[in-house]
Amino acid sequence: MQSILILNGPNLNLLGQRQPEVYGTTTLDDIGEMCAEHARRCGVEIEFAQSNHEGAMIDLIHQAKSLHDGIILNAGAYTHTSVALHDALASVELPAIELHLSNVHARETFRHRSYLAPVVTGIICGFGANGYRLAMDAMCGLLEDSA
Ligand code: DQA
Repeated sequence: MQSILILNGPNLNLLGQRQPEVYGTTTLDDIGEMCAEHARRCGVEIEFAQSNHEGAMIDLIHQAKSLHDGIILNAGAYTHTSVALHDALASVELPAIELHLSNVHARETFRHRSYLAPVVTGIICGFGANGYRLAMDAMCGLLEDSA
């Protein structure tokens, strides 16, 4: 069975209480359960992870090379700052999707820049928690195309 790493970055552990007008009221645990259920429907395995630490995220991306077939990454604010995450994604050469709950392009200009965009297959943003399901469908399509 194919396997996807769904990796969440800083502050996403606070979903549900953090700026609900921007990010909604769904918690990260709720999203994790939704993804697990969707994975069963799609016939894939997932690892759902969160870290507030850039280095820990990089370690998970490196490990994904031997454990997973693709990466869905909501890197939170590191999206807009991290050359190290860019390099990690480029190094593992797995299909990757950048994901955001909010439409980052309709927000502050510092959120318009993504260091990850050049090294991912595509980007999903602005669909709230449902974006996780959309990203899983997109990843399953990529994995089927490459099988
Ligand atoms: C986010 C958007 C980022 O700009 C922000 O720093 C986050 C969450 C999103 O899911 O909309 O932490 O990645």
